[in-house]
Amino acid sequence: MDERINKLSEDITLDHELLNNPRHLTLEEKRILANRVMKKHGVAGVTLHWVNAGCWLFLIATGTALLSASYLQFMPNWYIAIMDGIFGNRAAMLHAHIAVAVFWMSLLIFYGIFGFKNYLLEFIKNDLTFDKDDIGWLPAKAKNLIGKLSHYDIPPQGAYNAGQKAYAVVVSFSTIILMITGPIMAFHLGSEIIIQWAMLFHFVAAMAVVAGIFVHVYMAALFPEERPAFFSMITGKVNELYAYFFHYKWWKEIKTEEHEFFTSELKKDKIHLPELDECNKK
Ligand code: HEM
Repeated sequence: MDERINKLSEDITLDHELLNNPRHLTLEEKRILANRVMKKHGVAGVTLHWVNAGCWLFLIATGTALLSASYLQFMPNWYIAIMDGIFGNRAAMLHAHIAVAVFWMSLLIFYGIFGFKNYLLEFIKNDLTFDKDDIGWLPAKAKNLIGKLSHYDIPPQGAYNAGQKAYAVVVSFSTIILMITGPIMAFHLGSEIIIQWAMLFHFVAAMAVVAGIFVHVYMAALFPEERPAFFSMITGKVNELYAYFFHYKWWKEIKTEEHEFFTSELKKDKIHLPELDECNKK
């Protein structure tokens, strides 16, 4: 028991020191952090992300094939022919597009209402709110990628970096536009002119998401330093080394809460662990 408490005490002292400011880590410190995990996404968040992504991919695949009038055509003829072959005819493709869109909208409305406090407000706080570190992140990250700035000079980030947040803003804004314009077009709610404006906004909103999707998928699934983030969208967890390096403010917030809880619980059993203030005074 004593040995375990000593080990815990050492881990906590290291964390408290790292909580002061991000800094270069020794190899041993890196090893310790790499072996610890923290929860990033819950089951509901992971499920929503993938169902939402699946719906988007289906809606984009069918929506772009539905734009086949000569003055509107967006995709090459061979693509439209393949999609026609899959669905049999254009009307069936349109029905499938509307059915999936209704399912997608219902899911998001359900999530917005029943997950308002736990998910929607968290999403707004973590993904849609920018501070001065976020504003400084984009140019700093660009310089870092071309080797002109050290990683340690990039402003620290919260649960999501400014690039991820920018995409979340585009997706959220476009989602609202699509949820308004989609029903107007599908159920002819309004005059001909309203429906035509709805078509324009529907197209622009969908294309804004398509434009960012390539970067999002590349950064999330293929970019080597973001690999732990990709797996976090499956397992819900990231290792602490990744969190410390790339999402320092989020790492700090979670660790501070964790330690406050931990030390106060152990105090009840008369076990004293170093407290935040003690370490910060050193
Ligand atoms: C199919 C390919 C996709 C992959 C591989 C992918 C991957 C990921 C990963 C790994 C994250 C987590 C990032 C992190 O925790 O740091 C993420 C977050 C996110 N993705 Fe995707 N994504 C895909 C499609 C989409 C689509 C189609 C959309 C919407 C149009 C989307 C919207 C988002 C948003 C808004 C977040 C932030 C979510 C949150 O707060 O949990 N993703 N994605």
